[in-house]
Amino acid sequence: MKKSSSDLSHHTSDLRPPSSGLRSPSSTIAIIGAGGLGREIRNLVERHHHFAGFFDDVSQEQHYLGTLQDITAESDYAFLIALGNPQAKKQVAERLAPLGIAYTNLVSRHSILPAEALRGQGIVVCDGVVGTVNIRLGNHVLLNLNVTIGHDVTLGDYCSVMPGANISGGVTIGEATLIGSGAVILQGITIGNNARVGAGAVVTKDVPANTTVVGVPAKPRAPSFP
Ligand SMILES: CC(C)(COP(=O)(O)OP(=O)(O)OC[C@H]1O[C@@H](n2cnc3c(N)ncnc32)[C@H](O)[C@@H]1OP(=O)(O)O)[C@@H](O)C(=O)NCCC(=O)NCCS
Repeated sequence: MKKSSSDLSHHTSDLRPPSSGLRSPSSTIAIIGAGGLGREIRNLVERHHHFAGFFDDVSQEQHYLGTLQDITAESDYAFLIALGNPQAKKQVAERLAPLGIAYTNLVSRHSILPAEALRGQGIVVCDGVVGTVNIRLGNHVLLNLNVTIGHDVTLGDYCSVMPGANISGGVTIGEATLIGSGAVILQGITIGNNARVGAGAVVTKDVPANTTVVGVPAKPRAPSFP
């Protein structure tokens, strides 16, 4: 029976094809970024897929494949960018864009999200994530452990949502925004591009682009002067 778009689907950790115009991904996944998040994502990859190794400009972890310069248009992997900082993630994706490499989505089997949430590429959904209906995730969005997302939520490209954050219904979050661990975003809030919501913050008002908010209720952080 065909599922309606409002059905919740219980995903297996799976490989999803990239948007049209890009090559089909290999079933072997390479991770860009060998830091702590990269090693966590590697664990998720290895549950159900073949892990090729890491590309990283600095860290030479085990399974080191090379620096980002070693990635070429011919690299036959499905890629994921494992960088928690949304700005860094965006920079890397933009730097590699001319190569047309294939990104995949990686979704924990222990998460619940509607299928339509996963139309982008390079999305990582960790264990314990629960999202309800009409959720749109941009490319390279990270939903870290135990994030909850209510109805009618949109997250722009490159957003990173850290463990335990709760995003209420009707929230719109712009591109490359960081939502810190345990933050709560109340219903109907809009958060602009490149914003940062501190860990533990409760966001009760819209957050303009390029703004950092912290605290309960969340307020823009006072600029610090030397
Ligand atoms: C809000 C945040 C983005 C600011 O980062 P930053 O610009 O590097 O800020 P700093 O660490 O230099 O702290 C600047 C000031 O803000 C305060 N501050 C930082 N984060 C805060 C938070 N979440 N809540 C309240 N105050 C916070 C600091 O105590 C410091 O105050 P001070 O100037 O009085 O000493 C960051 O602290 C944060 O919360 N990031 C999310 C982290 C996270 O969730 N990690 C998950 C890893 S899996």
